[in-house]
Amino acid sequence: MVRQRIEIMEIADLDEVMQIERRLFSLPWRESDYRGELESQFSYNLVLRIDNAIVGYACMRVILDEASITTIGIDYPYQSLGFARQLMVHLLQYAEMKRALFCDLEVRVSNKRAISLYQSSGFNVIGLRKKYYPDNHEDALVMRKEFSENEEYNYTGR
Ligand SMILES: CC(C)(COP(=O)(O)OP(=O)(O)OC[C@H]1O[C@@H](n2cnc3c(N)ncnc32)[C@H](O)[C@@H]1OP(=O)(O)O)[C@@H](O)C(=O)NCCC(=O)NCCS
Repeated sequence: MVRQRIEIMEIADLDEVMQIERRLFSLPWRESDYRGELESQFSYNLVLRIDNAIVGYACMRVILDEASITTIGIDYPYQSLGFARQLMVHLLQYAEMKRALFCDLEVRVSNKRAISLYQSSGFNVIGLRKKYYPDNHEDALVMRKEFSENEEYNYTGR
């Protein structure tokens, strides 16, 4: 039986994460970028394992009432199986638990799969950053999901 689990990312995971990172992204984060996330009190970093091997990961920052998803990736053989959506559900639950009012992210305008994942997770386009990506000068969509229940909590809570 396939054993799948989502866990907090640890330093010991970085070799595996970096191998996937270099396969997935034309501008991969450096290992030091991930170390920075793991050391940050504002970061929430997850890995998804199947039978102990990491096949995906995601990182989020929550600073005061603003959350942002900084990366999400699923290794090629495991894509389109619902794993990114599972990571997304965990991230968004965490952001809501931390009383974030909204969650933002940036995505390449050509990344239709990711845009589709974000739209179906409740994100809407709120802006465009022109020539945001230095490798091919591609534009970035800025997308946001609002947590309306938390807004209500904020107004009524004292
Ligand atoms: C984008 C990415 C994270 C999606 O991961 P995934 O595990 O394949 O996604 P899931 O299987 O959970 O699917 C979630 C949604 O993504 C979209 N999606 C997934 N595979 C798709 C495909 N082949 N074509 C179009 N949309 C697709 C769909 O909206 C899907 O929802 P649905 O199944 O209800 O229709 C993955 O393709 C990836 O790692 N890409 C490279 C790294 C990257 O671009 N990260 C995002 C940076 S902003």
